[in-house]
Amino acid sequence: MNDLGVLVSGRGSNLEAILESIREGRLKEVRVAVVISSATDARALTIARKFGIEAEVFDFKNLNLTRLEYDRLLTDCLKRHGITSSAGLVVLAGYDKILSPEFVREFSGRLINIHPALLPAFRGLHAQKQALDFGVKVSGCTVHFVVPEVDTGPIIVQKCVEVREDDTEESLSERILKEEHLILSKAIQLFVDGKLRIVGRRVVVS
Ligand code: GRF
Repeated sequence: MNDLGVLVSGRGSNLEAILESIREGRLKEVRVAVVISSATDARALTIARKFGIEAEVFDFKNLNLTRLEYDRLLTDCLKRHGITSSAGLVVLAGYDKILSPEFVREFSGRLINIHPALLPAFRGLHAQKQALDFGVKVSGCTVHFVVPEVDTGPIIVQKCVEVREDDTEESLSERILKEEHLILSKAIQLFVDGKLRIVGRRVVVS
């Protein structure tokens, strides 16, 4: 069994999609060992509880820690749940804090993120709005390994979503989100099946 540590900050729909995939047997040999939230009021925490998953909160706003100190709490928590530099996988599923280079190094090659655009376009926040404002005809979502520079790591899976003439930020985000839910589970399965090899900037899928 492969242990996942899922880091969240808000709504938690990607977490929910992972847990449903596991429950329905579409995601195999995987369990969520811990959900870690950076906010006390994240809906993701309710989802974790609903599925009986252990959830820990490190209230970023009120802890007054440096990024490094905060990330050490995360690292220790993940390790307590069996996710280390040589075992398990850390999944950023709507985690809105920038990670310290130390944390990224610790879990290098075992740390993935879901982003709501076709990277390298529209990195950072409000990617769907950035795509609309730019006027692209196609956007989508990306699962990638995390490196210290935000939204630039080797790409594992991408999915295109057509931008419609009458799209709003909400309607485009909603269609992209449906695809996010699918490709995140797909990337996790590829990882736990040992099918991903990072070669320079590329992820070779066998
Ligand atoms: C998703 O759009 C994800 O791509 C981005 O943050 C959002 C999180 O949504 N990184 P949710 O919390 O999984 O519902």
